[in-house]
Amino acid sequence: MTNAQSSHPPRKGIVLAGGSGTRLHPMTLASSKQMLPVYDKPMIYYPLSTLMLAGIRDIMVISTPQDLPQFRRLLGDGSQYGVSFSYREQPTPDGIAQAFIIAEDWIDGASCALILGDNLIFADHLAQILQKSARLEHGATVFAYQVRDPERYGVVSFAPDGTAMDIVEKPRSPLSNWAVTGLYFYDARVCEFASRLAPSPRGELEITDLNMIYLQERSLRVEPLGRGCAWLDAGMPDSLIQAGTFVQTIQSRQGMLIGSPAEVAFRMGYIDAEQLRHWAGRMIKTELGRTLYAIAGGQ
Ligand code: G1P
Repeated sequence: MTNAQSSHPPRKGIVLAGGSGTRLHPMTLASSKQMLPVYDKPMIYYPLSTLMLAGIRDIMVISTPQDLPQFRRLLGDGSQYGVSFSYREQPTPDGIAQAFIIAEDWIDGASCALILGDNLIFADHLAQILQKSARLEHGATVFAYQVRDPERYGVVSFAPDGTAMDIVEKPRSPLSNWAVTGLYFYDARVCEFASRLAPSPRGELEITDLNMIYLQERSLRVEPLGRGCAWLDAGMPDSLIQAGTFVQTIQSRQGMLIGSPAEVAFRMGYIDAEQLRHWAGRMIKTELGRTLYAIAGGQ
């Protein structure tokens, strides 16, 4: 069937911005980690832009009961970006895969992407890579990235022919240095699969266990992100400043924006030049506002 798209409900996306940010204390004692600045924007702008670049316009932000009102205040209903934002609480941090239990009625049988609120991904052709993954009808897609410290992540190991064999969450002795990034695309069965999960020994519904269900039925695609891609998680003081410096370097050298939902909204056609100018006008005292204004052709 060529016109499969019309028979499927619209795709949805979740930004999970929960957790207590213990690795960033005391910065996160009174503020959400995903609200901290990465150079000139709040951290959550980056994963949000990634979902929007994937073509997803129906987005739910899940966070703790105390932090959720701040996100609502920052992001509103999404109309400024021509998208729709919903909000829901994760009362206790019981694991990433719990997002699909919390959001099940909202997902309502659609396929759904999930991105962790501290994951920043930059790549050439990123829009193409993401839009291809978002179009999937069956199975799931995750992205793998080579790191020096795989034991901090979910780690995927490959058979000699390159097919993914196994994913282990924070292994003591990693079988590869390919970490699974915090961006996941799932088909319409994701909520049903999530409901089958049991808490891990650390008491969480593990995203790795959810990915293993897809891997075991051979419907998990593992897309390697190679050279030319940067995947940064801003969960610790060093990685936070590295991410900020990276964004500053690219933006000031190339004049391009990274992680700007307004710019993505304009480029994707969710808003027009007039709407972008209006939005940019609200922050015209900043370099970010002036850049957005120029992108809208406002000079
Ligand atoms: C989580 C996932 C892990 C993944 C990582 C990516 O770990 O459990 O599989 O590799 O995100 O950022 P966490 O950062 O919650 O420890």
